[in-house]
This record gives sequence, C-alpha cells and structure tokens, in this order.
Amino acid sequence: MSLPVLTAVTGARWESDLVSALERSSLGLDVVRRCVDLPDLLATAQSGQARAVLLSADLRRLDREAVARLIAGGVAVVGVVSPGDTEGEERLHRIGIAKVVPADAPADVLAGAVAESVEIAHAHGRAPEPDFAVSNPWGAMPSLPPMQDVGVTPETGTGTGQLLAVWGPAGAPGRTTVALTLATELSTFGVPTLLADADVYGGVVAQALGLLDEAPGLAAACRSANSGSLDLAGLARHARQVLPRLRVLTGIQRADRWPELRASALEQVWDLARQLAAATVVDCGFCLEQDEEISFDTAAPRRNGATLTTIERATTVIAVGAADPIGLQRLIRGLEELREAVPGVAVRVVVNSVRKGPVGGDAEGQIRDALRRYAGVDAVVCVPYDRFSFDTAIAQGRSLAEVAPKSPARLPLRNFAADLMGITLPRQRRRKKA
Ligand SMILES: Nc1ncnc2c1ncn2[C@@H]1O[C@H](COP(=O)(O)OP(=O)(O)OP(=O)(O)O)[C@@H](O)[C@H]1O
Ligand SMILES: [Mg+2]
Repeated sequence: MSLPVLTAVTGARWESDLVSALERSSLGLDVVRRCVDLPDLLATAQSGQARAVLLSADLRRLDREAVARLIAGGVAVVGVVSPGDTEGEERLHRIGIAKVVPADAPADVLAGAVAESVEIAHAHGRAPEPDFAVSNPWGAMPSLPPMQDVGVTPETGTGTGQLLAVWGPAGAPGRTTVALTLATELSTFGVPTLLADADVYGGVVAQALGLLDEAPGLAAACRSANSGSLDLAGLARHARQVLPRLRVLTGIQRADRWPELRASALEQVWDLARQLAAATVVDCGFCLEQDEEISFDTAAPRRNGATLTTIERATTVIAVGAADPIGLQRLIRGLEELREAVPGVAVRVVVNSVRKGPVGGDAEGQIRDALRRYAGVDAVVCVPYDRFSFDTAIAQGRSLAEVAPKSPARLPLRNFAADLMGITLPRQRRRKKA
C-alpha cells in the first residue's frame, strides 16, 4: 500500500527533484498533491487525503499554529531545507517540526524521514516534539542573596522546572491571589520563579504587581513562539524581573485579546519556562469547556485551549475554591471536570477565604470533611480570610510577604509553596503562653 504524501516547497529551486526523489524511493510514497501555498496545504491536509507533508522552511506564513493544525489533523510534518541552511532548520524545529532533512539527501533518506515521522505520529497519536538545545540565561542574572536561604538547590537549565497551574472554578475564588502569593513565597526561598498570567478572560497580575502600562509579555512570547523565533534568552527578555528571584510574564488585560494566547504557542512557552525557572506558576482562566465541541470549525483557535494546554502540561494543578457553600459546590464539580479533562494530572486543593460566617461552626473541619466526602480529597490547604492584608497588597502593588508578612493567610501558602518544591522549612517557633 502506498503512503499518500503532500509537498509544499514552493519557491524552492529543488521542488521537482524532491518530488521525483520521493517517488523513486523504495518505500512506496505517493505524492498526491504539490501544494502551492500554505492555505492550499491546510485545506488539502484537512480533506484527509494525505498522511504526511514535506514542506520547506521558506513556505510563506508557515508558523507554529499551522504546524499544530497539520499535526492535529493527523498529518506528519517533515521539514526540508537547502543544504547547509542551519538557520532554516532551527526555525523549523522551533515551530514544532522535529524531523528536518536537507534537500539534497538521497531519495531513501528523504522517504525514510517521512515514513518514520508517520510511524512515530501514529505511535504517539501525534508528531514528535523537537528538542530545544539552548543555554540558561538565569546564570547571567545578578545573583542577589535570597531573603531566606532554606537550602534549596533549584534545578535550572534542564527543562525539569515545575509547572504549577493555578486553576479554579468561576466566581473569583482567589486564583490570582494564590498564584501571586505562591510565586513570591517561592522567590523568597531562593527558588528562581516565573509567574505567568495566562488568564484568557483578562489577566490582572500586572496590575496587582503595580506594573502599569506593561505590554503583555506572555502574548509577546506567544507571538515569537508562533513565528519560530522564541528561544530561552528571548523568553527571559519577555519576562520582567520584579524581585531578585521572580520574573513575570504579564497577561492580556483585555479579554478580547485571547486569541493571542494560542495553545500551540503556549506549549513551547511552557517547555522553555521549565528550563528558565525552577518553578513556573501560571494563573489560569477558569473554564475547561472544550470549545470545539460547540464549534463547527475544529481547527479554529479555542479560547480555553490556553487553559487546557497549561493544565495538560502542568506538573501539578492547584485547584482553588472559595470557602462558602456555593464556592465549595463549584469546586467539587470543577474537580470532577478537571479529572475528566486531564485524568493523570497531580492535583492539590486550596480553599481560600476561610472564615466562620458562611460555613458556620468549625469552618475548616467542615470544609475538609465535605471535600473528603464529595471529592475524595484528603489534603486541603486552607487559607484564612484576611481582607485588610490583601487590600493593602493590592493598593501598593506588592506581595503579602512585603506588606503583611504576619498575615494569617500567608503561612499556609508559604508552607504549601515549600511543600510543592520539596523544601523543608525551619520549624516555627511557638509563642510562649504568658
Ligand atoms: N484569603 C483572602 N482573604 C481576603 N480577600 C481575599 C483572599 N483571597 C483573595 N481575596 C480577594 O478576593 C478578590 C478576588 O481574588 P482574585 O482576584 O485572586 O480571584 P480570581 O479567582 O483570580 O478572580 P478572577 O475570576 O477575577 O480571575 C480580590 O480582591 C482579592 O484581594
Ligand atoms: Mg484572576
């Protein structure tokens, strides 16, 4: 049986040679269409005529989003570059094409690359991801002493940083507050931390940190990722440094800019973030609805794609719920949705704004009990309500650690941050009773 293949190498001098080389090979490849441009390629791929495409680095408008669409449509993508064009090869890798071959490779090598990519895509359910070999710009940062060194040796430059996705159901349970506080606490431990605002319904991290007039760094990083020009140093440039160990990728402040946070671009941003920082804390949007189920065009950008991609790639999802009957009910339902959307992901639960009023009696005990019974969650981080401290923090555009270090809301989040990174904190000194 022959393997139907597309080519999209317009503008290249060697197109005809390439096509005949493919058809000459002994691997049974059949070039079913020579696409004239990217729209032609995408339309043909969508019609299901082919299993693979061989495309050139100079194909106009080729970007990460287009590659992701091809791969999602079940078409394995192989790049082809002029002999010696290492720049073109790197760009193809960066936009998500793992296999790149020189145009003058022997027929069987070209055909072999196509057949192998189809096989790998079939085995993985998608095409293989490229490796990113880049250096770590943390090393170039001024190494100011951490506020409190608790003996953590962060792993950086290895792509093994934690990706902590802070998520939670609708109703403003405190996702941003938890993300901000966790990130700042981690930085005080000396952990190189990146805080990213990926809320597609309008992010406020920049405002909360007093970064006025800030162009959204995360959107800029996504743009670079989409065009294939994002590398580790570029990501570091988009991430503004706000504390000695804390960088921030600010988000889109207007909800209508959500298409700038494309899932396909975020995938690369998170991969690089895990090389850049020992911990990346992401403030996510609330919705997990898979928009393609309600949309006819399955290739259209998905608003919640950013949230879904983030929680799929997360090493831990931190689910935040509000400590009142409605908030808890939403959290319990949300945890169910979360497990359906990403069955294998590690989830930790934070219940925020714990106070007596809405729950009554032993609020913390009742909350723990409800989550154990209805969501099967044993470990819950309870964060007390502390309006004054958080208001002060917002008013000053600073963190809780800076404006209200003794806030009762800080300690559980600080302990939780340490726990997430496997840091052992010095024991708290108990106050002597008079
Ligand atoms: N533990 C707490 N005690 C008192 N106020 C809190 C606490 N946690 C959060 N808040 C306040 O609640 C409000 C909403 O919090 P936040 O913005 O973090 O929620 P969110 O889930 O990110 O909401 P959104 O849906 O707008 O993204 C803010 O004014 C914040 O200061
Ligand atoms: Mg928020």
